[in-house]
Amino acid sequence: MIKIGIIIGSTRPGRIGEAVADWVLAHSKKRSDAQFEIIDLKKFNLPLLDEPVPASMGHYSQPHTKSWAQKVAALDAFVFVTPEYNHAPPAALKNALDFIYAEWNNKAAGFVSYGSAYGARAVEQLRLIMGELQVADVRAQVLLSLYTDFENYSIFKPKPNHEAELTAMLDQLVAWGEAMKSVRSKVAPR
Ligand SMILES: Cc1cc2nc3c(=O)[nH]c(=O)nc-3n(C[C@H](O)[C@H](O)[C@H](O)COP(=O)(O)O)c2cc1C
Repeated sequence: MIKIGIIIGSTRPGRIGEAVADWVLAHSKKRSDAQFEIIDLKKFNLPLLDEPVPASMGHYSQPHTKSWAQKVAALDAFVFVTPEYNHAPPAALKNALDFIYAEWNNKAAGFVSYGSAYGARAVEQLRLIMGELQVADVRAQVLLSLYTDFENYSIFKPKPNHEAELTAMLDQLVAWGEAMKSVRSKVAPR
């Protein structure tokens, strides 16, 4: 069975991303086709990128890089739970993506985004980044509105229709995550 990490893209105090990730995890318990776990960037406490060599060269020098790489290497696919900061993904998420390289390659990703414009612009930027990281990102997406899915912009109360959207996204993600396993057996990371 493939392993899917639900990555919380926000690290700030009072973040609403944690409740969204918890909702994804609770929903995933209804499935038996993949194992899911929450990956909290806050717990990895990565500094701003402090590796002397670009990650694609594969020489990780810092203990925090190695432990982050080890966690990502153990996963087959990712759900990025992301807010939108200034029409982009949070710097903490971009930083975590930049830290490592081969561990992302030839895996699959899906997105659950939120914001006043549903976090759509942040995800469009993430899709560009996924291309460079050689991550296959699925089309189906969960788009949450700060106005209608959060009470007072803070308490997560998703509209019921998002359950079906999440199922659709996870269906694609599990299928692609399984397919990318076979790709990894044929293609060396580069
Ligand atoms: C630095 C910053 C920039 C933001 N920029 C946007 C934005 O461009 N679009 C948007 O919809 N919301 C924006 N917001 C509002 C966030 O959607 C809202 O604060 C949300 O709660 C952030 O997610 P989090 O609580 O998980 O960190 C911004 C928030 C912050 C902190």
